[in-house]
Amino acid sequence: MGFPEQRLRRLRESEGLRRLVREVRLDPADFVYPLFVVAGRDRTEAVEAMPGVLRRSPDLAAGEARRAHEAGVPAVILFGLPASKDPEGSHAWRDDGPVQEAVARIKDAAPELVVMTDVCLCQYTDHGHCGVIRDGRVDNDASLERLAATAVSHARAGADVVAPSDMMDGRVGAIRRALDQEGYSQVAILSYAAKYASAFYGPFREAADSAPRFGDRRTYQMDPANGREALQEVALDVQEGADIVMVKPALAYLDVIAAVAARFDVPVAAYAVSGEYAMIKAGAQAGWLDERAVVLESLLAIKRAGARFILTYHAVEACRWLEEDGL
Ligand code: PBG
Repeated sequence: MGFPEQRLRRLRESEGLRRLVREVRLDPADFVYPLFVVAGRDRTEAVEAMPGVLRRSPDLAAGEARRAHEAGVPAVILFGLPASKDPEGSHAWRDDGPVQEAVARIKDAAPELVVMTDVCLCQYTDHGHCGVIRDGRVDNDASLERLAATAVSHARAGADVVAPSDMMDGRVGAIRRALDQEGYSQVAILSYAAKYASAFYGPFREAADSAPRFGDRRTYQMDPANGREALQEVALDVQEGADIVMVKPALAYLDVIAAVAARFDVPVAAYAVSGEYAMIKAGAQAGWLDERAVVLESLLAIKRAGARFILTYHAVEACRWLEEDGL
């Protein structure tokens, strides 16, 4: 059969029909809202490259988390900016750090909200790399115990999910063992499994003050040219105990999301990163793009590719827009 008997336009004739045959829908339950947490009280700082995004002290982060929860967002992920940095990143695993304090306050303010924490050293090391440096290199194995100590500290504060974003080999296994040993076997691991060395993280590095002071991250984050390698990364993380695996960035890596979702049965997350957010904001501010339409279309595309949920700085707005649309 073909034209003229077959006409694909028939099922596009009305919104009722389009809704009926729609393959993928967005839902507020699809979003995780990232928050940047700084030390102090009653403090906010704007992030220039991410209009609308603020760094907040733990008390204000808790208020923002509650607002997100009220808008329908099921989860937040926290990134910390410590009071000071050192070569080992030792403030990452201090129980009185901004992330640890914010976790506890958010759990008070919105007990049902799922609290995730980013586990990495780059915001905490004075050189800005995601692991510790030995002989001029980012030392994989020496970084593992520090990452594990950080994850345990987050769990102790009350985190539901820890999310290692460092890309050291073996860190999921090291974190799983440490959590289990310390009595946190219920805490889940969301691994940044296929995390690419991407220029789309530029604005985040301003937000989190985490740009490397020398070199780049290409010895540990993935080469953007490689898709098959992502499947190896995911397989290893699943084998080491990852409960959820993430692909990052999202829009430029939809093929990777699709390949991972087709191959693995664990939930797949995707991160619509800072550069994706900044591009849309810039286009919208210039009057060149319809922000709402572009955001919802992008999120839908990420979900269609196979992501079960999406980390997005637009999480709260997206929930509001979906509600307005009555979807
Ligand atoms: C920390 C980390 C980064 C992002 C999430 N966790 C930055 C990086 O790897 O340089 C990027 C998130 C974003 O761009 O929104 N390692």
